[in-house]
Parts: sequence; C-alpha cells; structure tokens
Amino acid sequence: MHPVPELQTPRARLREVRPDDAEALLDIYGSPEGVRFLGRPPQTLEQVQTRLQRMREEIDRGEAAFWVMTDPGADRALAYLGFFRWDVPHQTAELGYVLAPARWGQGLMREVLPMLVQYGFEALGLHRMEARIDPGNTASIRLVERLGFRPEGRLRERTLQADGSRDDLLTFGLLRPEFRPDDLR
Ligand SMILES: CC(C)(COP(=O)(O)OP(=O)(O)OC[C@H]1O[C@@H](n2cnc3c(N)ncnc32)[C@H](O)[C@@H]1OP(=O)(O)O)[C@@H](O)C(=O)NCCC(=O)NCCS
Repeated sequence: MHPVPELQTPRARLREVRPDDAEALLDIYGSPEGVRFLGRPPQTLEQVQTRLQRMREEIDRGEAAFWVMTDPGADRALAYLGFFRWDVPHQTAELGYVLAPARWGQGLMREVLPMLVQYGFEALGLHRMEARIDPGNTASIRLVERLGFRPEGRLRERTLQADGSRDDLLTFGLLRPEFRPDDLR
C-alpha cells in the first residue's frame, strides 16, 4: 500500500510532498507567527529543504506519512500535515500539522484533520495517536479536543528556546475505539 495517496475534502486536496514545496512552506516555517508555538526560530529556505528531504527519507523507511495540503485543483502547498514518529510495531504515531498564516481561522484544519485521523486508523492501521502542543496554542488544543483526543499530561520543560528559556508541552492521546468521526465535538 502507498502510505501517502491523494486525499480530498470539499475545500482541500492532500498530495505527496515534493522538494519544490519548500518555498511555499517557508510562508509558515520562515515566519515568526508560523513558528511561534513550534519551539524553534524562523527557518531559512535551506533549512526547510533539509526538513522536507529528511521527511522524504522517513516516509521511504515507513516511519512517517506526511502530505501537503493545497486548494482543490491547485498545486501550491498551504499546509504540511500527517503522522511522524510512527512506531509501527506498536501501531502508534504522532499527529502534526502546520497551516499558512494567511489561511488561519477558516476552519480548514477542522475540515481536514478528521479525514486524516480516519485514514490513520483505518488505512495505516494505527491504534494510538499522540499530539504534543504548547499550552498557549489554543487553536491547536481546540482541534485535538474536537477530534476526541484526551489530555494525558504535561511534559515539563520539554523545549529549549533560543533565548535559553524552557517551556512545557501538553500531551494528548487518541485511541482507535475512541474516534467517532460522525460525532465530533
Ligand atoms: C493550529 C492551526 C493548525 C489551526 O488551523 P486552522 O485551520 O486555523 O484552525 P481552524 O480554523 O480549523 O480552527 C480550529 C479551532 O481553533 C479555534 N481557533 C482558530 N484560531 C484561533 C486563535 N487564533 N485563537 C484561539 N482559537 C482559535 C477555532 O475557533 C476552532 O475552534 P472551534 O472548533 O471551537 O470553533 C494553525 O493555526 C497553525 O498552523 N498554526 C501554526 C502551526 C502550529 O501551531 N501547529 C500546531 C502545532 S501543535
């Protein structure tokens, strides 16, 4: 099975990530607001290219399934999302998503993530998904809560910031039997 097939919702198309998506994804990774809750400073084009190359290798090794999101019928990458740290023997992976700031607050992730989570449980055979989120990232916390993720704790001083300070991360988990796509909060 190909782990990264094209997927579609009414307002979004998910396709395989390509090296030339780096420039569009710099709208997110290169901007202070885009990386505010990601625990790292804004990145250069070269750093984003390296990130995509590493992800490509992880996908090839079966350790990740990651897509870019575009508008339907368009090609420019607007979001980068999927499963990483995929622990195949234990059927567990981490869910990650970033969206271009120009598209925030339009309900796009609320539309796309249920489909992605369903794909993860049904097609990828996952039993458990995890999400680690900065406590200040209200939109992201709201998104996972809507999907049925439960809070599982606080990872104290999990991230080291460029200024030397350390921040906590909240951790959430969702088990396959708990996911009810027809009954989202
Ligand atoms: C987090 C992110 C993916 C949200 O995507 P989005 O498409 O803008 O989210 P949606 O419009 O689908 O909204 C999701 C929920 O968050 C709420 N929300 C959206 N923007 C918000 C904001 N700035 N502050 C508070 N809540 C917000 C929405 O009201 C919605 O909640 P509701 O369902 O109760 O109405 C996007 O802001 C992003 O990419 N941020 C930068 C990268 C990032 O932090 N990724 C997550 C790392 S854990």
